[in-house]
Amino acid sequence: MARSIEIFPSLPELMTRSKQLVLDQLQSSFEAKGYATFVLAGGSTPKALYQLLAQESLPWEKIHCFWGDERYVSPTHPDSNERMAREAWFNHVAIPEKNLHPMPTHDPDPFRSAREYEKSLQDFFEISSGQLPIFDVVLLGMGDDGHTASLFPQTTALGVVDRLVTVGNKDGQPRLTLTYPVINQAHCVIFLVTGENKRPALSHVLAERGDALNYPSRLIQPQGKLYWLLDEKANPHLPF
Ligand code: 6PG
Repeated sequence: MARSIEIFPSLPELMTRSKQLVLDQLQSSFEAKGYATFVLAGGSTPKALYQLLAQESLPWEKIHCFWGDERYVSPTHPDSNERMAREAWFNHVAIPEKNLHPMPTHDPDPFRSAREYEKSLQDFFEISSGQLPIFDVVLLGMGDDGHTASLFPQTTALGVVDRLVTVGNKDGQPRLTLTYPVINQAHCVIFLVTGENKRPALSHVLAERGDALNYPSRLIQPQGKLYWLLDEKANPHLPF
């Protein structure tokens, strides 16, 4: 795993770089196999990137988008990661609906929904139980507690390594999340982290040694490339 840490003085510069990085990764996937698989991050940070991608002219039919995690709410709920991505990006481009693979949140039992999404991944990637999908690009954010996707500190989701999708827990609220072994199979993982409030956790996450149970973003050690794109406010000033 090659780790690259890039720090930007401003948000626009960070977002321009992240857009170009995503486009380059998608393009290399198009050349390699004719399509690309892209896992979206939730939260607020990536919205500006999605708005930039919505302005691009891309072969949308070649891009399949998945979600790395989802709050367990309806897709019309203000907290929905699916809703945010559609409003910021997909409602503005001609991406076929069949290319969007949102996490299901309709079942009263989130564990059943986790199984349903896992089955949809197995079907898409034509893999059987025990095999892991290899996504081309996984975009991640990081919370000020060091969580990523919906892998929160000291939760059971951190120990789930025999599933593709599991149920995360934020303050008692269920969330669906890819498991960290799935994320680590990706060809390219890109963290987008901004803001002063992220700096303390980031210093623990990026330190040479640390505790992944308390700082779950440390679990992300992908087979492929790992990029940390930070703004100066989040910069922990470690001797990288
Ligand atoms: C979510 C995200 C989560 C997010 C971090 C950072 O569903 O909220 O997947 O992991 O990336 O919490 O969120 P912000 O970008 O809003 O700071």
